[in-house]
Amino acid sequence: MHFNATTEDALSRQADADEYGLSDYRGHHANPDQRGRLAVIGQGYVGLPLSVRAAQAGYRCIGFDHDERRIALLREWISPIEDVSDDQIAAVSAADRYHPTARHEDLAGFDVAVIAVPTPLTAGVPDLSYVESAGRLVGKYLRPGALVILESTSYPGTTRTVLGRVLEEQSGLTAGSDFHLGYSPERIDPGNPHHRLDNTPKLVSGVDEWSLRAAERFYTDLVAEVVTVGRCEEAELAKTIENTFRAVNIGLVNELAEIAHAAGIDFAAAMDAAATKPFGFMAFRPGTGVGGHCVPVDPMFLAWWARQQKTGKPSEMIELADRINRSRPAYVAERVTQLLAEAGRAVAGARILLLGLAYKPGTGDLRESPAREVARLLYASGATVRAADPMVSDLEAVALDGIALVDANEDEAAAADVVVLATAHPAFDYAALVSSAATVLDCCGRLRGLGAQHVVQL
Ligand SMILES: NC(=O)c1ccc[n+]([C@@H]2O[C@H](COP(=O)([O-])OP(=O)(O)OC[C@H]3O[C@@H](n4cnc5c(N)ncnc54)[C@H](O)[C@@H]3O)[C@@H](O)[C@H]2O)c1
Repeated sequence: MHFNATTEDALSRQADADEYGLSDYRGHHANPDQRGRLAVIGQGYVGLPLSVRAAQAGYRCIGFDHDERRIALLREWISPIEDVSDDQIAAVSAADRYHPTARHEDLAGFDVAVIAVPTPLTAGVPDLSYVESAGRLVGKYLRPGALVILESTSYPGTTRTVLGRVLEEQSGLTAGSDFHLGYSPERIDPGNPHHRLDNTPKLVSGVDEWSLRAAERFYTDLVAEVVTVGRCEEAELAKTIENTFRAVNIGLVNELAEIAHAAGIDFAAAMDAAATKPFGFMAFRPGTGVGGHCVPVDPMFLAWWARQQKTGKPSEMIELADRINRSRPAYVAERVTQLLAEAGRAVAGARILLLGLAYKPGTGDLRESPAREVARLLYASGATVRAADPMVSDLEAVALDGIALVDANEDEAAAADVVVLATAHPAFDYAALVSSAATVLDCCGRLRGLGAQHVVQL
């Protein structure tokens, strides 16, 4: 992998860094044409938008991913995610600013490395194996003066004690004195056209003052507003607080909505009324459950971390919200069973059309999707389940035993005993689907206000 770097570029970046007292930070340059060499590890929902943004800002970006299929797509200028267009990839690739690769040696010579790899829970425990393996790779090519930033979400202490240790062991260098190390949590909201990477305030932290300043300079090149946080542990906690706030509030409305339904009260009407309060209130809405990484997984990193502290005290709030949110697919399946019973049918043998398999409207992201769990539960009860999702491009990847993947059309809606709107994708033709269906269970509040008798709110 060769970029057209010149010695003048390097000297001029060095001079600029010196001016700011960062005598060994090489990435930033006031002139975008002379910015440094960036390696982004992980080209997923977080890493790819960051790579493209940095390339647009002048960095020469190596987009590294160990998934060769993904790299092959990116090499053909095909974006695997909704938030980055094929045209954007084409533009930065044609400008020699973006090079997707799965070859380790292409990482050599980076000035800045950003790690954006998954941080799943495995058997309920934070699994940092991806961060560690990315750290070993980055450590292999780490040079004095370079900057390494973790963007993956994790519990407080991960950057300093887990990634820092791996980088030091692999490189023989010391974080803080030989290289810069920082943490900057990603706040992207896939599918949200208003709040993007470049216009959402970016939290930035470092293991020491110079690392913080180096990271601040890097992100100032990419985004409109950088917010510096004193310590990495505080930035790590901040990110998990943000997602926990959502998980707990969603858990609250999911529980209250079930109670209101049992009491015969329209929960959505009550929530609309409450939301007219202009201060001290934020409306959350009940739904099929929580999916993706941010809401179901990240708070559990914090809950796990809480149990490791000296007091050993659990975060009861987080653990309770998790239990409530995870119970939602079973509640949806139960409501479908009730609707069938009201029509004199058993769930065994009934035909269900599930609309939306991704966890979020407007995206094809299937991670932790509660809609898939609804499908699985109904199938396990003997129903014939057919599912439609126009956003999921790789239908093979969603294949669930016994569940047919179909188009969302009027014939499918008409043939179903119950249509379940699990994820309200904008692409569905709601008028056609609703008018063809016998009964619709709307888990998203999308069909509220239609006034149709056969549409039932969850
Ligand atoms: N998706 C979001 O909305 C979002 C928002 C904020 C934070 N995050 C956090 O960012 C991190 C990344 O999430 P994501 O959504 O981008 O995940 P993703 O699954 O979309 O992408 C991760 C990519 O990393 C690659 N990868 C894994 N291990 C690797 C390795 N050792 N070397 C090279 N590539 C490797 C995978 O092949 C994949 O393409 C997670 O910690 C997540 O919690 C995600």
